[in-house]
Amino acid sequence: MSHDISTLRKFVSPEIVFGAGSRKSVANFASNFGARHVFLVSDPGVAAAGWVNEIVTLLTDAGIRSTVFTGVSPNPKVDEVMTGAELYKSSECDVIVAIGGGSPMDCAKGIGIVATHGRNILEFEGVDTITNPSPPLILIPTTAGTSADVSQFAIISDPNRRFKFSIISKAVVPDVSLIDPEVTETMDAYLTACTGVDALVHAIEAFVSTGSGPLTDTHALEAIRLINRNLEPLVENIADPYLREQIMLASMQAGLAFSNAILGAVHAMSHSLGGFLDLPHGLCNALLLEHVVAYNFQSAEDRFRRVAEAMDIDTRGMSKPEIKKRLMQRIVELKRKVGLEARLAQLGVSVSDIPHLSGFALQDPCILTNPRKSSLRDVQVVYEEAL
Ligand SMILES: [Fe+2]
Repeated sequence: MSHDISTLRKFVSPEIVFGAGSRKSVANFASNFGARHVFLVSDPGVAAAGWVNEIVTLLTDAGIRSTVFTGVSPNPKVDEVMTGAELYKSSECDVIVAIGGGSPMDCAKGIGIVATHGRNILEFEGVDTITNPSPPLILIPTTAGTSADVSQFAIISDPNRRFKFSIISKAVVPDVSLIDPEVTETMDAYLTACTGVDALVHAIEAFVSTGSGPLTDTHALEAIRLINRNLEPLVENIADPYLREQIMLASMQAGLAFSNAILGAVHAMSHSLGGFLDLPHGLCNALLLEHVVAYNFQSAEDRFRRVAEAMDIDTRGMSKPEIKKRLMQRIVELKRKVGLEARLAQLGVSVSDIPHLSGFALQDPCILTNPRKSSLRDVQVVYEEAL
């Protein structure tokens, strides 16, 4: 009897330490990797908040030198990765630590790849293009949303093509993720909303993905449940440590789900937007979400019913169109309550950009696991609806 192995699923995860204060174990983990000189990647905002100095001190106290690199912008660029990799090499570093949101973490992944291959990061676009193992990588996320600290994705911006490209490989899953809700206390309400909705999109897209499976489903549903219940209260009360921890946990679970089940059309379309107009990732996702749900619903009705239930909608006795309507209403309400209601046009997108944006969205690997197969015209229509 033959078995179809195309439906088998693997699950990749870093070693994770979750909880308040976990960042303080950074020197222990670096020592375990034999670190003598750590390359510490961050950005100016995180440095100004004091988190970079704290990590430097923790490493110094353990007898480990460090070189700090904060030349990372939102939507990390090809030349920032290349500059970081040169500094890594010239400083003779042996372990990479990044503390920050998705941008420094993705940049750190890129620096590791370039440092061991000695080639341009542009050559690693796509799935499984990495041949050499990267230096040990320890990530400390300061936002609760992007989950670059658990995922097998690195997203880099190529300003020449105005395109954000994806590197997807088990090789960019970090060795260690220190997920510490205390470091999210320097996020403002707007960033909390953007990154929290990004995490919600991760969980929904992973759950309806054609790459989903039992190992990712439980994480995805729990993440949806936690974000639905805790994101609005957190945005209203961003100093609450319990709510911060709940959203950090949700972000981690959404990350484990999407890293392994991959994503869908929201991310394909938002990567295209973010590369073209250099817009914040979470905001792009938020503006597209309900429009993509409306487009996808017919191709994964039972899956979306379970998403609706995880968002505390009692679907008993409801028809499928009713479930679709209620789910979209709840998404729009959640976005409005956390302050992310806007149209693409308000961000500077014009109708004449849509053909270009749609072409790039169809080249993004995330489109391949979208539950409904999408043509160029389909993607154009969804952009038009969000305009
Ligand atoms: Fe995302």
